[in-house]
Amino acid sequence: MTPLKYLTTLICFVFIAIRAASGEVRNEFGEVGGEVSFGSTSLNPSVSSIIWKHRSSTGPVVKAIEWDPAEDPDVSIPNPRFKDITTLNEKTGEITITNLTVEHSGFYTIDINSKEQEQRFSLTVMAPVPKPVIKIEKIEMNPNAVNLKCEYNETIIWKNSAGETLKGSPHTPKGELITAEKKGNPDVFYTCTLKNAVSESTSDPVYERDLFEESGLWWIALIVIPVLILALFVLLYKFWTKSHRKQYNLASEGNKMKEDAVSPDQKNVYKNGISDATQR
Ligand SMILES: *[C@@H]1O[C@H](CO)[C@@H](O)[C@H](O)[C@H]1NC(C)=O
Ligand SMILES: *[C@@H]1O[C@H](CO)[C@@H](O)[C@H](O)[C@H]1NC(C)=O
Repeated sequence: MTPLKYLTTLICFVFIAIRAASGEVRNEFGEVGGEVSFGSTSLNPSVSSIIWKHRSSTGPVVKAIEWDPAEDPDVSIPNPRFKDITTLNEKTGEITITNLTVEHSGFYTIDINSKEQEQRFSLTVMAPVPKPVIKIEKIEMNPNAVNLKCEYNETIIWKNSAGETLKGSPHTPKGELITAEKKGNPDVFYTCTLKNAVSESTSDPVYERDLFEESGLWWIALIVIPVLILALFVLLYKFWTKSHRKQYNLASEGNKMKEDAVSPDQKNVYKNGISDATQR
């Protein structure tokens, strides 16, 4: 063998070994509480028995479901982990597990006619991602930008209202952060989406108008201040005319009082005069 031929043969062997080790495992994913089916193959009609076995990362190999009509016409589910939630399609060999828990994760193999098949299945059961909430963090030195944080231990996808995917930077201890610059458009928004193999969930959008409050106040001030000034003028005018009228009223009332004040005196003088006259 020439060295080149030797090398080629070696590479071929490595290739075959890698394919044998990895090619026969199919990855399956299930959601906690959900349902999964796998192992559907077109079985040859001479199938006389099927056994699905499960090996978790810690425990021993257990039988998940067994169908052997020569022994028992019913399928049997010996392990409590699979009881009442596992079914088998005897025609295709497909196994279905409902009410999944994390304990159903692990490797599954299928024996057909008491012969273990080469294809194996790796099942990963995981919790669905929660609905994320974006946290807003002001940047002290820059009033025209804020940091948006999505603090989850999952795959994170940031998007803006234009549908563009934004690149986040890692945030410790977990999650990602983006910096939102002020665009001068209050309707611009940002979302954070969490994703795992079984689910995805998107946050409520965070709008620019909620990120830069001062700019909002500035616009409000621009409208409110002239209205306030106008209102002040109206009030002043009303107050002025009212006080003017009051002064006028006071003046006329004063005159009336003078009149009223005069007559009793006069009456008194008159009365006194009379009494004086009678006394005399
Ligand atoms: C499976 O979950 C359903 C509801 O999702 C429930 O009604 C049923 O009782 C559960 N079955 C078992 C065996 O836990
Ligand atoms: C999530 O955090 C746990 C520990 O809290 C860690 O074991 C796991 O690898 C993390 N998962 C991801 C996707 O980062």
